[in-house]
Amino acid sequence: MKQEAMNVLLTRRSVRQYQTRQVSEQEMDQVLQAGLYAPTGKNVQGVELVAVQEKELRDRLAALNKSFWDKDMDPYYGAPTIILVLADTVRYTWVEDGSCALCNMLNAAHALGLGACWIHRVREMFDSEEGRAYLRQWGLPESMRGVGSVALGYPAGPELRPLPRKDGRVIKLL
Ligand SMILES: Cc1cc2nc3c(=O)[nH]c(=O)nc-3n(C[C@H](O)[C@H](O)[C@H](O)COP(=O)(O)O)c2cc1C
Repeated sequence: MKQEAMNVLLTRRSVRQYQTRQVSEQEMDQVLQAGLYAPTGKNVQGVELVAVQEKELRDRLAALNKSFWDKDMDPYYGAPTIILVLADTVRYTWVEDGSCALCNMLNAAHALGLGACWIHRVREMFDSEEGRAYLRQWGLPESMRGVGSVALGYPAGPELRPLPRKDGRVIKLL
């Protein structure tokens, strides 16, 4: 079992090709739960996860993200589910807390056989007027900012091999 967990961590890749079929709610809930179980500084749990499957809203959010990008393509690579990670900036560790949730969800998705990729520019999205209007609509406080997001779906395309790691990045003082 321990080895299985290690295997998940060592084989996860960023997936950028997705099937159009929607992720089941049960699998999405497991990914979200992994995000909620990530550590937070002083256990403040100030991270909010917004899971979007509704197609029209998903596309509007993708367009908002794209408006801060220099490429003319869907920044979510056609993934049918988007999970936005927002965190309350009144907490000193908001960026780290949100990042832990993101990594937990990427690894959980892989463990479940789903594909996922961290998609950035969420800070810009929710610092914008349009993004702030969404925060109000979702009942989130003004003090929330975007940390990142997850493209989530069933992977398409060939299975990806782990990328080689750069050497010399561990100093062991035994
Ligand atoms: C902070 C952060 C931001 C990232 N932003 C994006 C992004 O906007 N779009 C994207 O396709 N991948 C993004 N990635 C994924 C990285 O490009 C990817 O993790 C890296 O190339 C290593 O590949 P791997 O995840 O398959 O090992 C991001 C990753 C991190 C940690």
